[in-house]
Amino acid sequence: MTSVLLIGHGAREHCIAEALVKGGATLFAVMKYHNPGIVSLAREVKIAALEDAATIIDFAKQKKIDFAFIGPEAVLEAGVVDALESHGIPCVGPKKTLARLETSKGFTRALVEKYKVPGNPRFKSFTDEKGMLQFMQELSSFVVKADGLCAGKGVQVMGDHFKTIAEGFAYAKTCISEAGKVVVEEKLEGEEFSLQCFTDGKTVLPMPLVQDHKRALVGDKGPNTGGMGSYSCPDHLLPFLKQEHVNAALSITKQVAAALLKETGERYHGIMYGGFMLTKSGVKLIEYNARMGDPETMNVLPLLENNLVDVCKAIINEKLGTINLSFAKYAVVCKYVVPQGYPDHPLKNEKIVVPQNKARIYYASVDQRNGGLYLLGSRAIACVGIAPTLAAAEPIAEEAASSIQGKVFHREDIGTKALIDKRVQHLRVLLGSV
Ligand code: GLY
Repeated sequence: MTSVLLIGHGAREHCIAEALVKGGATLFAVMKYHNPGIVSLAREVKIAALEDAATIIDFAKQKKIDFAFIGPEAVLEAGVVDALESHGIPCVGPKKTLARLETSKGFTRALVEKYKVPGNPRFKSFTDEKGMLQFMQELSSFVVKADGLCAGKGVQVMGDHFKTIAEGFAYAKTCISEAGKVVVEEKLEGEEFSLQCFTDGKTVLPMPLVQDHKRALVGDKGPNTGGMGSYSCPDHLLPFLKQEHVNAALSITKQVAAALLKETGERYHGIMYGGFMLTKSGVKLIEYNARMGDPETMNVLPLLENNLVDVCKAIINEKLGTINLSFAKYAVVCKYVVPQGYPDHPLKNEKIVVPQNKARIYYASVDQRNGGLYLLGSRAIACVGIAPTLAAAEPIAEEAASSIQGKVFHREDIGTKALIDKRVQHLRVLLGSV
């Protein structure tokens, strides 16, 4: 029997918990509130701050934990993996130095450049404003990334968040004064996709491709969010990508894993989740995350045909090369139900009711109390449809999302043919193939 400690309390962690328990784990969890999905799967949960290494170590020792699985990036940045491993508890999740892959945009851009890995856009890092305005003028259309973890809010894109070079310059100066460093890079145009890989620091094994939807509202309107939902296809590709594009993205991740090992002398244990974009000049790297994606986890883990506990052990023991990773060939559509007003002014502490139906339900930012389920302000419920085709998976997710009662909304268009055709057409026009 393997005792596993899961750290995190969202739908991503609910889905990870499900896969670990299916793999035979005795599950313990540390979370900030009572996620009912994780509570129902775990032998025992500890309610604590996810960055509270001392409490987590005490709990892990008491429960004789064999390994920990880290959900969110803030836990990595807080050095909880370093602390657990120094007490002999191995982790699926990189140490703080290696998690810079996500926590420092400047670190990753510089690493990719130094090791001559393809995929970087034109970029420069700045610690003061010297030369910054000139570089922005040279690029004319650019992105400003605060060089620190800002829960997705540190990135501002010209045309979306600011309209003029002067506004971008002002935001970049704020990043320097708050984060100490800023990365300015060329704005890319194309279609984004997520490639999540397991790695033991040498072997890199890919999961099926997923496309997330960042904007809050139907038709890709409204503010950026943590991700309103996602889809993935039975062939594990995406309708606008060819195998050569996947090969290019995977090759970048393999080269970055090797570069990380050379640069730090340490092996990365966990997940390298690359956000890529297919552009007119090929596959480009947008950013790396050092953990599973949310919602992308819901697209891949339910299809994993291996035992996740075995995959985790292979990561920890640096034997991932012995694993023949395979995923069932199904389409998956995930739609997040979120509080009215999300993301800027979300309702909180409102009761919701989640009826049972054909979809899989993963609980996120909801607390179970007084016999009810209450919104906490972030993405609330992930509704997941799994079927042989996208056309069959989408209505399953849609029926579940629209059946949730309360002051909530979701994006009806995620996973629909109309939206996917729009993505395909966008790339056709961009690549000049129409
Ligand atoms: N899909 C967005 C994220 O996990 O950061």
